Amino acid sequence: MMFPRHLTLPPVVALLLATAAMAAPAAGTSPGAQLEYWSTQAGAPGQAARGQAFFTRRHGGEWSCSSCHGTPPVGEGRHATTGKSIAPLAPAFNPRSFTDSARSDKWFRRNCRDVLNRECSAGEKADVLAYLLTLKP
Ligand code: HEC
Repeated sequence: MMFPRHLTLPPVVALLLATAAMAAPAAGTSPGAQLEYWSTQAGAPGQAARGQAFFTRRHGGEWSCSSCHGTPPVGEGRHATTGKSIAPLAPAFNPRSFTDSARSDKWFRRNCRDVLNRECSAGEKADVLAYLLTLKP
């Protein structure tokens, strides 16, 4: 491809700037941003009451979300099999909670498989986040 020499630099700069701008939000997120994301994916806002019911009941297996995270999940949880302590899940009680979307995705995938024997839907994730965000000290 032939570009006039004076035009070759700006597109490269523009591309670098665009890449930097896109990388910034991916580095970290917030519980509110994740709620918005999953609500958008589901096509409806997350509902706290439904999230609470989902979180506290069993889904055909041995565990509920509460089995490890506690009811309500505002204090240290305890892993149902290993007994290891788990940092509080509700964001108001744990500043790290839901601040890294890769981490949240990883645990949603793993824990939903453990509890439901499948991945959680976008709507279920939105409901759980809406519920967790209602929990305040
Ligand atoms: C067998 C134990 C266990 C069960 C049951 C369980 N979890 Fe977890 N969960 C964990 C552990 C361990 C972590 C990681 C906590 C840490 O790193 O301190 C975690 C972390 C998470 C995170 C990551 C939070 C963040 O900071 O982004 C989410 C989301 C989550 N769990 C959702 C659920 C949901 C929803 C259910 C029910 C479907 C559930 N968990 C059931 C053990 C469990």
